[in-house]
Amino acid sequence: MRILVAGNGGREHALLWKLRRDAPEASFFATRPNGGMAGACEAVDFAPGDPRLASWAAAAKIDLAVVGPEAPLADGLADRLGELGVPVFGPTAAAARIESSKAFAKRLMARAGVPTAAFEVHEDLAAAKACIDAMQPPVVVKASGLASGKGVSVCPTAGEAVTAARHALEGGFGEAGKQVVIEECLEGEELSVFFLAGGDGVLPLLPSQDHKRAGEGDRGPNTGGMGAYAPVGFATEELLEEVERTVATPVLAAMAEAGCPFSGLLYAGLMITSEGPKVVEFNCRFGDPETQAVLPLLSSSLLEPMLAVARGDGVAGVRLEFRDAAAVCTVLAARGYPGAYGKGDPVSIPALPGETFVFHAGTVLGPEGLATSGGRVLAATAVAPTFEGARAASRTAAEAIDFDGKQFRRDIGWRESRRRQPAGTRLGRNGAGPESPLPHKENAK
Ligand code: GLY
Repeated sequence: MRILVAGNGGREHALLWKLRRDAPEASFFATRPNGGMAGACEAVDFAPGDPRLASWAAAAKIDLAVVGPEAPLADGLADRLGELGVPVFGPTAAAARIESSKAFAKRLMARAGVPTAAFEVHEDLAAAKACIDAMQPPVVVKASGLASGKGVSVCPTAGEAVTAARHALEGGFGEAGKQVVIEECLEGEELSVFFLAGGDGVLPLLPSQDHKRAGEGDRGPNTGGMGAYAPVGFATEELLEEVERTVATPVLAAMAEAGCPFSGLLYAGLMITSEGPKVVEFNCRFGDPETQAVLPLLSSSLLEPMLAVARGDGVAGVRLEFRDAAAVCTVLAARGYPGAYGKGDPVSIPALPGETFVFHAGTVLGPEGLATSGGRVLAATAVAPTFEGARAASRTAAEAIDFDGKQFRRDIGWRESRRRQPAGTRLGRNGAGPESPLPHKENAK
């Protein structure tokens, strides 16, 4: 079997790692693999968005192409692969609009009765202003298109909301901001749920929670994600059934009805509110860094359902099994991230105790060894029988890995940790000092 992974971040390293475990005998290929993927696959020297990648895959007789990032999916990579007869795990460009057009996704949810924040879509600043006034801040202003995770502003005041809408509508995010979605601000706790979707139903993976802010205590600027953990204590089986019934199933049915059936990985980004789960966003691909926490807990094959989806066989006959354990993933970023950061610093990864996996993102393997090449450099995922064990081991690994300018959060999973402490003994986010609860009110990437 010949398997191509398109993409070269931490998520794609985790996908490659899991698929290699599922099929050790297979040949693996990846587009411009990072320093950790390089030794585990053959390099294909095309970016995932390069139109030549599909013809390469057809000529190379690829049996399964797995597309990691959203941008090439939105650009039609899955369509091109499909047209050339390459089985692909990932949605068509039309179906990827569930992520690449927030206006499309919100209207679809409204039609399908999927719970989500009240919203309006605007292309004109005067109308956007009127909507902001009527909605009464706090509100969330979102560029409708893909804006590299930067297009969402949580705005406590009308002035900030108007500034955010003006910035988007006047070209701050290029074409991606020509339409804005203005929506009410949801209050609650966030949850990420992945569904493998194959046309005949869905297979949910373990729920996870990520940490989007750069600073400890969920403060500071938004990032691509500074860590994640799975499973999540409050995500009971009943809650997951509710999410499948009220979110995944109706939205997928609405997509099929709209003529753009979705196949691949549907990521439901949820806010668990006092009224139940509401959708903050959908993504058309695995989450990063949640994937780095979820896949190490998947004990059954990922390859089997991916092939079933890619071949159009559906997922009805497939069962997923997960380990009875916890995984905590700490992201190590370069100094300055999410702003400007340096590159080319040597990276040293010592032997790590226990079950710890290091997934690479912004690394490159050169003649001089491993060096940094991106903002998020590595993710250290620890798996342990207990949540606290996984949390401590992930932090220990993050401390032991070395590169100049390394920054990471020491409080990944602090909400879960607090939940698990008996009432009256609750400690701070780093396990010391009194906890200062922060409201979690930010339906923003
Ligand atoms: N972790 C958020 C995302 O993948 O979009």
